[in-house]
Amino acid sequence: MEADFIQARSLTKAYQTDADAEVRALDTVDIDIETGEFTILMGSSGSGKSTLLYLLSGLERPTDGEIHFEGQRVDELDETQLSLLRRRGFGFVFQAINLIPHLTLLENVTVPGYLVQKDRAEVARRAQSLLDDFGVGQLAGRLPSQCSGGEQQRAAIARALINSPRAVLADEPTGALNSSAGRAVLEALQRINEEGQCVIMATHEVRAACYGTRVLFLRDGQVQSEYRHEPGSDIQAREEPLLAWLTSQGW
Ligand SMILES: Nc1ncnc2c1ncn2[C@@H]1O[C@H](COP(=O)(O)OP(=O)(O)OP(=O)(O)O)[C@@H](O)[C@H]1O
Ligand SMILES: [Mg+2]
Repeated sequence: MEADFIQARSLTKAYQTDADAEVRALDTVDIDIETGEFTILMGSSGSGKSTLLYLLSGLERPTDGEIHFEGQRVDELDETQLSLLRRRGFGFVFQAINLIPHLTLLENVTVPGYLVQKDRAEVARRAQSLLDDFGVGQLAGRLPSQCSGGEQQRAAIARALINSPRAVLADEPTGALNSSAGRAVLEALQRINEEGQCVIMATHEVRAACYGTRVLFLRDGQVQSEYRHEPGSDIQAREEPLLAWLTSQGW
């Protein structure tokens, strides 16, 4: 059966590096994602995790293959349609937190909201409530430089959610954080997922991968294998079996 949310077929992204050499960052990948899944992408550096996130969201165009997002062909949209889809369909969280430095946390969250919604007071209310949800509401008036990395990243998650996207895509969101700041960010993503939103996250950390519902292992631009956590298992208990599986995959 076809996945109801995202399907990619023979997805390929090739980069020309020399006149006669090309790198296949992604090589004929098939992927199916259901609504409400929290999919983790793992694999060594250069295996294609970021490329896959960028292609799925239409931030980059594939060289070949198809992407269906809620039944719509993303790879066939023109630039205007793509930017609309990106604005409403996807929220992004990056490793480099990239908040606007001269705007407060609250302003950082409201800015993309104003692009989509006319009612500014409503956008500001929603932004404050998202910051509250992720435990940084009391910092709304501060500049990013006056907050810790973990606090900034939770504000970035609030920003990613301001337009109620159908999916949140996160590229190593805890990569620059210490473990307790990282945990707060992962709990925020898990909570989003438990509220029914689709989350797709690339990570190098086994602990982080325990928060997902399944793990896809990439190698050389292909999805080599898939792992599902023991149903109903708690986060702590997932780490050891996942590590054993990753090791068996040549991680
Ligand atoms: N603009 C580009 N030009 C040429 N090659 C590229 C370009 N962007 C990415 N690549 C190559 O594509 C491959 C996949 O890169 P990608 O960034 O998706 O890897 P990744 O799994 O996210 O790695 P990391 O864990 O280091 O973030 C790599 O071999 C990379 O060098
Ligand atoms: Mg990457």
